Amino acid sequence: MMQNDLFRALAPEMEELAPGIVLFQLYVDEQKFMDVVKYAAAEIPFRHMVTPGGKKINVAGTSIGKCGWYSDRRGYRYEPKDPLSGKAWPEIPDEISTIISDAAAKAGFQGFVADSCFINRYSPGVRLTAHIDQDEKDFSQPIVSVSLGVSAIFQLFGESRGGKALNIPLHSGDLLIFGGPARRAYHGVKKLENAFHPLTGDIRYNLTFRKAL
Ligand code: SIN
Ligand code: FE2
Repeated sequence: MMQNDLFRALAPEMEELAPGIVLFQLYVDEQKFMDVVKYAAAEIPFRHMVTPGGKKINVAGTSIGKCGWYSDRRGYRYEPKDPLSGKAWPEIPDEISTIISDAAAKAGFQGFVADSCFINRYSPGVRLTAHIDQDEKDFSQPIVSVSLGVSAIFQLFGESRGGKALNIPLHSGDLLIFGGPARRAYHGVKKLENAFHPLTGDIRYNLTFRKAL
């Protein structure tokens, strides 16, 4: 298709895998984003939160930004401070924010500025069950995610949590955007394989940038 060719010529580094799903392979400077993970964890360490039903979440998390995603017996929500330590989440560094906004703009989401970044830590054997990101205020804003370390399979379902998934392998340095018609699709991550990556050892990190407020 001509329009498609034009699209490719303008932004050769990205690929639209499905409506609203845009992948930028090996796009970010991994070390720069790894430094962000270390900076975040030094302030507020990774923690296994619990679901409102009291189940331990196997993926460990921490946040940076004006607010952080949080879950405990009181529900899923964004918190201006870490409820446990009472500390404000560290800021999203300007340089990082610019990289994320630029990628979003290339994918057609002009004006996206993340106010929150949730950092997931996957150990071998850990998976993320299918869910929808729906604790944010404005679903016209996309989600921008950056993967680091061990590769994983991101699964995109549709409007229901089961059925056939689009399997998207995510490698260290990849940036994935889901927005528009895919913004409220069910998605998850397959069980992390036991593998080694020089940046992280046997760990996978994922930084999920969102406009929550
Ligand atoms: C998420 O859906 O919150 C994280 C996705 C990922 O780890 O790639
Ligand atoms: Fe998610």
